[in-house]
Amino acid sequence: MRVVLLGAPGAGKGTQCKRIVDRYGLLHLSSGDILRKERTAATELGRKAQSYMDSGELVPDQLIVEMMTKAMRNDPDAGYILDGFPRTVNQAVELDKALEGNCEDIDAILNLEIDDKLVIERMSGRRSCPKCGAVYHIKNLRPKVDDKCDIDGTTLVQRPDDNSDVVSNRLKAYHQQTEPVAAYFRNNRTVYDIDASKDPDKVSVLIFEKLDALAKS
Ligand code: AP5
Repeated sequence: MRVVLLGAPGAGKGTQCKRIVDRYGLLHLSSGDILRKERTAATELGRKAQSYMDSGELVPDQLIVEMMTKAMRNDPDAGYILDGFPRTVNQAVELDKALEGNCEDIDAILNLEIDDKLVIERMSGRRSCPKCGAVYHIKNLRPKVDDKCDIDGTTLVQRPDDNSDVVSNRLKAYHQQTEPVAAYFRNNRTVYDIDASKDPDKVSVLIFEKLDALAKS
């Protein structure tokens, strides 16, 4: 199964991907996570991406397409889920070309819908584990021990791009450049809109309904 998960920053893509991966064994390919790893490793790509990420702008398409098509080559038999990619219509066109070249297609496109006010609340309270990437929220999804990861006990951190100025730029980039991606896919594929304002377990149920049906077919 090959899945694309679309949605605004803070819509819950990372949170839901972890659950989807646990249930279906897909490879989680998050463009944001890959870029953060490249930055930590101080690679050329990481250095090029840094200023864009820090200001909340999108990293240029060419860098992203190369990075993601390379990552997609390692997909296990179970397939993969793309999180945060494609994020521009140009990236979507390039993804389609890469899939066509391999005689493959995307099986499901899920679009997490949420309004900006809720996004801002979620991002300001987000905390994540720098070691394993687990995501928490100071009110909605609290760790068992304050500020410590449930999985490995590492002290949780706030992402630098979660400050309010950067969040508003990320939302602007989303509305201008990423919302049209769902419209692009709707031209010739079904896009499943999911109400992402519900609590995380309810959002998972809505997603699993769609993916279970596909997995059985
Ligand atoms: P990226 O890392 O992809 O960030 P994003 O898309 O902005 O998404 P987030 O990771 O912020 O949010 P999420 O939807 O995963 O939400 P989460 O599950 O954490 O990208 C970062 C940057 O990299 C971009 O700005 C750009 O510069 C660059 N980049 C990445 N991909 C690119 C591309 N393709 N092209 C160009 N540039 C690219 O949840 C958020 C919070 O809410 C958490 O605290 C969570 O606990 C909580 N929460 C989640 N679900 C719920 C719920 N249902 N109810 C209540 N709380 C919830």
